[in-house]
Amino acid sequence: MAEPLRLLIVCLGNICRSPMAEGALRARLREAGLENRVMVDSAGTGGWHVGDPPDPRSIAAAAAHGVGIGDLRGRRLHAGDFRDFDWLLCADRSVLHDVRAAMPAGARAQAALLLEWAGMGQEAEIPDPYTGSEDDFRHVWRKVDAAAAAIVQRLSPRRAG
Ligand code: 4NP
Repeated sequence: MAEPLRLLIVCLGNICRSPMAEGALRARLREAGLENRVMVDSAGTGGWHVGDPPDPRSIAAAAAHGVGIGDLRGRRLHAGDFRDFDWLLCADRSVLHDVRAAMPAGARAQAALLLEWAGMGQEAEIPDPYTGSEDDFRHVWRKVDAAAAAIVQRLSPRRAG
């Protein structure tokens, strides 16, 4: 069997956007029976929330769709990630900029915006909900879940008609 595709979703704190995206993508992959084809993890460029569970508003937004992310813990992006993953999929342009700046020469990983990589529009960003409302978290969930669905659709073997 081919090597799994290794995706790391990256945001700033790893407690809002990237854990929601990780949860959504894991759930959709499982639903499609593709969980062995793709390895998913998430990380933050900042270190403020290392070891912390996702923000309670992230956990609630995911739980409203039957997805549990309460066991995830924040971690910071590190040099090994540029070797261990195929793609570092970033929540917004500022994160993408910081990831590219930290990328060592000869890294195997490539970096892109998550929504753009998922085919949801050029330069599309996921707004940081940290200082926002619960509605902002629900908005993020809809975005990352749509991205997860698009990614899984692209990876799914075509059904014989
Ligand atoms: P995230 O949101 O990048 O979507 O996880 C944030 C979480 C925490 C902080 C910033 C953004 N912070 O500054 O602590």
